[in-house]
Amino acid sequence: SSSAPKTRGALIAIEGLDRAGKSTQCQLLMDRLAERNVPARLQKFPDRTTPIGKMINAYLSTSTTLEDHTIHLLFSANRWELSAHILKLLNDGVTIVLDRYVYSGIVFSAAKGLSLDYCRAPDVGLPRADVVLFLDLDAEVARRRGGFGGERYEVEAVQRRVRDLFKEVGEKEEGRWRVVDAGRSVEEVREVVWGVVERVVKEVEGMEVGRFE
Ligand code: TMP
Ligand code: MG
Repeated sequence: SSSAPKTRGALIAIEGLDRAGKSTQCQLLMDRLAERNVPARLQKFPDRTTPIGKMINAYLSTSTTLEDHTIHLLFSANRWELSAHILKLLNDGVTIVLDRYVYSGIVFSAAKGLSLDYCRAPDVGLPRADVVLFLDLDAEVARRRGGFGGERYEVEAVQRRVRDLFKEVGEKEEGRWRVVDAGRSVEEVREVVWGVVERVVKEVEGMEVGRFE
């Protein structure tokens, strides 16, 4: 009936170190959501297809040098340029799976020495993830998984700092932050992720989308 509460989609963030299996798990999660007839979209950050995303891509592939604050703000701007679209989809009942989000934005810049408070600021007000699945993996194990790629940040010392910073940032998220042991098999991780997501998709029905703070 017309008085039924409007259901919205859930905003699900998958975070973790490079090589933790984020993209694999995002795809498996999308497959599972489709099987269960939950309307869903995958959104990867950085989204390298936009003009800002192309600048980010040039920086990451190390062909371009950018001052630390500048690239930090570009990563945030890349989220802001897609935020209205994300909000609209959520309110239309579409669940969105994010392959990285504000948490990567904060910790990778903080790992270079910018303060955590500074790093959070530009993302304040963005649609807040209903849950963050942090795929946790030791930096050395990540490196041994076939090695990091050749992009900026894909070196063990950076990843080690990033992992510690993720833990610090996660504490602020309290119940929304779920640490998943990414050292287990792909199937085991998939089931843990699904267990969390299935519950959250139901829980957010009728709840307004929050704002990152
Ligand atoms: P990707 O490999 O998942 O495409 O991410 C590219 C790199 O960008 C990765 O090392 C994490 C980093 N990153 C940031 O520094 N800030 C951000 O806001 C995001 C989303 C990623
Ligand atoms: Mg990468």
